[in-house]
Amino acid sequence: MALLDIRDLSFSYPDESKPALNNFLTAREGEFILLTGPSGCGKSTLLKLIKHQTAPAGRMRGQVLYHGKRVEDYLPLTLSQEIGFVFQNPDNQIVMDHVLQELVFGMENMGYEPGFMKRRVAELVHFFGFEPWLEKKTSEMSNGQKQMINLASVLLLNPKLLLLDEPTSQLDPVAAKQFFSIIEQLNQDSGSP
Ligand SMILES: Nc1ncnc2c1ncn2[C@@H]1O[C@H](COP(=O)(O)OP(=O)(O)OP(=O)(O)O)[C@@H](O)[C@H]1O
Ligand SMILES: [Mg+2]
Repeated sequence: MALLDIRDLSFSYPDESKPALNNFLTAREGEFILLTGPSGCGKSTLLKLIKHQTAPAGRMRGQVLYHGKRVEDYLPLTLSQEIGFVFQNPDNQIVMDHVLQELVFGMENMGYEPGFMKRRVAELVHFFGFEPWLEKKTSEMSNGQKQMINLASVLLLNPKLLLLDEPTSQLDPVAAKQFFSIIEQLNQDSGSP
């Protein structure tokens, strides 16, 4: 069964006569899918509709199925953990004052056990090389660093589906290459082809 199955999806924002998007897509476990298109073609809108909690107000037709079930029929907690979303604008995602607080915020909301959180954060901080940032204020970080922090916070929940909205738009070419090699490594380690 497909991990994600989008069927005849159409969505219009309130007071807009023209749909913001109209499409279909199927994703299987272990796959990388790249959505491209000009500004305003609906890439962000589509991603927001996949993670149901981030869906904007408007008229939606068609279906977004995750593991064969409509996303609106899942418990919010399940989608929060299983579908990780890194927003296009990193400032819209950062909520805490310090980097370490930001990293653990999602895990705390899930109610994970403290010992488990410590181990998982330690592993990921080491993997990303975030040690020098941990005590820093999130407001002092560059947009590219914020994007990496958002990615790490999302990965701490061990999502099954990762939605990345223009994840390298704030990164220089070297950091962008590192970003994709991290994603590729994670996919090889945990994605089942
Ligand atoms: N909150 C909103 N209210 C009304 N229209 C919106 C809203 N957000 C986006 N739109 C419109 O919906 C369409 C799709 O926008 P969306 O942000 O999904 O595109 P995008 O492909 O992500 O663009 P970009 O590459 O610039 O990020 C555009 O025409 C946009 O103006
Ligand atoms: Mg966008």
